[in-house]
Amino acid sequence: EIHEQPESIRNSLRGRLLLKEGSAKLGGLEPVMDKILQAKRIIITACGTSWHAALVGKFMLEQLARIPVEVDYASEFRYRNPIVRPDDVVFVVSQSGETADSLAALREAKSKGATVLGIVNVVGSTIARETAAGVYIHAGPEIGVASTKAFTSQISVLSLIALLLARHRGMSEEQGKLLAADLHSLPDKVQRVLQTTDQIKYIVEEFKHVHNFLYLGRGSNFPTALEGALKLKEISYIHAEGYPAAEMKHGPIALIDENMPVIFIVPKDAIYEKVLSNVQEVKARKGRIIAVANEDDTEIARLAEFVIRVPRTYSYFGPVVNSIPLQLIAYYMAVARGCNVDQPRNLAKSVTVE
Ligand code: G6P
Repeated sequence: EIHEQPESIRNSLRGRLLLKEGSAKLGGLEPVMDKILQAKRIIITACGTSWHAALVGKFMLEQLARIPVEVDYASEFRYRNPIVRPDDVVFVVSQSGETADSLAALREAKSKGATVLGIVNVVGSTIARETAAGVYIHAGPEIGVASTKAFTSQISVLSLIALLLARHRGMSEEQGKLLAADLHSLPDKVQRVLQTTDQIKYIVEEFKHVHNFLYLGRGSNFPTALEGALKLKEISYIHAEGYPAAEMKHGPIALIDENMPVIFIVPKDAIYEKVLSNVQEVKARKGRIIAVANEDDTEIARLAEFVIRVPRTYSYFGPVVNSIPLQLIAYYMAVARGCNVDQPRNLAKSVTVE
């Protein structure tokens, strides 16, 4: 499923990305487009990996379409008597469309009069049926318990929604075209990242006996860090934490010593220099640095012990490309430790109980 991603992302974008117009066409949202455009804010609710995709969605919708977005764990949302108004638009993100907490959050929002929409993979699932409208991610069946291709397809669909809303809210056609072209290039870029497999196996050999990992990123790559850590926990049973890189100094920095591997997601974007200074802080404390960095980055090799090179992309869509090496690290770590990659202990593909 990790290797299926060039194709699954292509399927999520197919027929929806309008390269010439610099926009997107999402038939499933057309009946509710007025509601969405009138909404003063958007709420996204989800669980697990889908919640991480929702965090990336918040970043994209706020940066591109300038709409305030709140992201909530479905399990928290449902029990908080959340403030939901009839003019709110709520997206429920779910691979399976059957997660009990997400379904309960959906019903809670609906009972308060909001327009509730789905971003779902499984066609005809309960969440797809109970939402007013929505967008299927078309990732194809996902069998591995740890979600991989659904994550990148969820982000792809959220990118399309962000692009569409941005164009309705004043983004120029020229800017739209640049973003659409970048989205269109994602499957090929992911294909290129999949070629880092041999290097990742080498890195895994180096670290397969450690007990802890820290994942750090900023902006849209903070959720990438969370997702990387979750993948490692889920399938290799190594304790891992994802953190915003700048927040490290407020606690996790105490953990850094010569035994602590730290994975930085450090693309050459507007906050590159800031993240680089966080890399330096880890280096000064002798932490072992693995960097996911761009192909044209000439500085990072001086600081990091290992550099995994990924193509450049707009920072909004970066998590699609940058999460691939993290999925591969988790996969090969699990294999090296003799774990069952597809069916990790204690986890279920679809959690239909509270
Ligand atoms: C379970 C799975 C996770 C998944 C989460 C949400 O915990 O093990 O991989 O991210 O449920 O599932 P959903 O189907 O709603 O995306």
